[in-house]
Amino acid sequence: MKKIGLLITTLLTLVLLLNPAPAIAATTTTPIYQTKLLHRPDGIGKVYLGREIAKVMGHEGYRWLERPERTTQENPRDAIAALDLKSTDTVADIGAGSGYFTFRIAPQIPAGKVFAVDIQPQSIEALNFVIEQENINNIEPILSTVKNPNLPENSVDVALMVDAYHEFEYPYEMMQNLKSALKPGGRVVLIEYRRENPFVPIKTLHKMTEEQVKKEMAKVGLKWQATQEFLPQQHFLVFEKPQENDAA
Ligand SMILES: C[S@@+](CC[C@H](N)C(=O)[O-])C[C@H]1O[C@@H](n2cnc3c(N)ncnc32)[C@H](O)[C@@H]1O
Repeated sequence: MKKIGLLITTLLTLVLLLNPAPAIAATTTTPIYQTKLLHRPDGIGKVYLGREIAKVMGHEGYRWLERPERTTQENPRDAIAALDLKSTDTVADIGAGSGYFTFRIAPQIPAGKVFAVDIQPQSIEALNFVIEQENINNIEPILSTVKNPNLPENSVDVALMVDAYHEFEYPYEMMQNLKSALKPGGRVVLIEYRRENPFVPIKTLHKMTEEQVKKEMAKVGLKWQATQEFLPQQHFLVFEKPQENDAA
């Protein structure tokens, strides 16, 4: 009888040793996105760090992106000059749309290249049409997903997002993947309409405050470098991917 008791105790000990109880019974995580049933008409009802994400501008709006008044409303020449590009740089134009910025940047970097990234196949089609017609050899259109720009790792010097970031359905995932595509010390430049100013005639969710942009970039570990306010209606915000040995 004693032997059976000992055997049972040994077996129980073995079972406990092989299936140890977890040190922490349960952990809770706060979801990164929240949903709103009642939301603004220009939004998708999804909230990230307190900001409702805007609806994507469809390819039907590409003609509007090419409007001649844009040169005075957005001053793209000064915006591109402020990127301070080297002729060998690799630039990623994320949310390239009709290529308004892509085609203006490509001649500035004759020994480099532009990755023109967008989720809409119609954008890629439009970009390829002009590339072929103009015989341009330093632009590579890339069809991305809503979570990933599909760029090669450590390949990008400057990632530019003009009037696009506020529409990203998965901003956290996109920026994490974009960060992997940046070279250490690579820059992220966001150009967004000023939400602080109610007189900027753009739908509310298609504008962003400086504070919100900084909060969202900090969330993915991008280091703020500068905010420049030389554009008529938009913020020009610069962030940096920290060097590998940088503690930030
Ligand atoms: C308002 S347009 C701006 C286009 C261009 N940057 C310009 O200034 O002319 C925004 C573009 O971002 C694209 N877009 C939205 N979400 C995206 C994502 N997650 N990844 C890449 N592109 C995206 C849209 O398809 C659209 O072409």
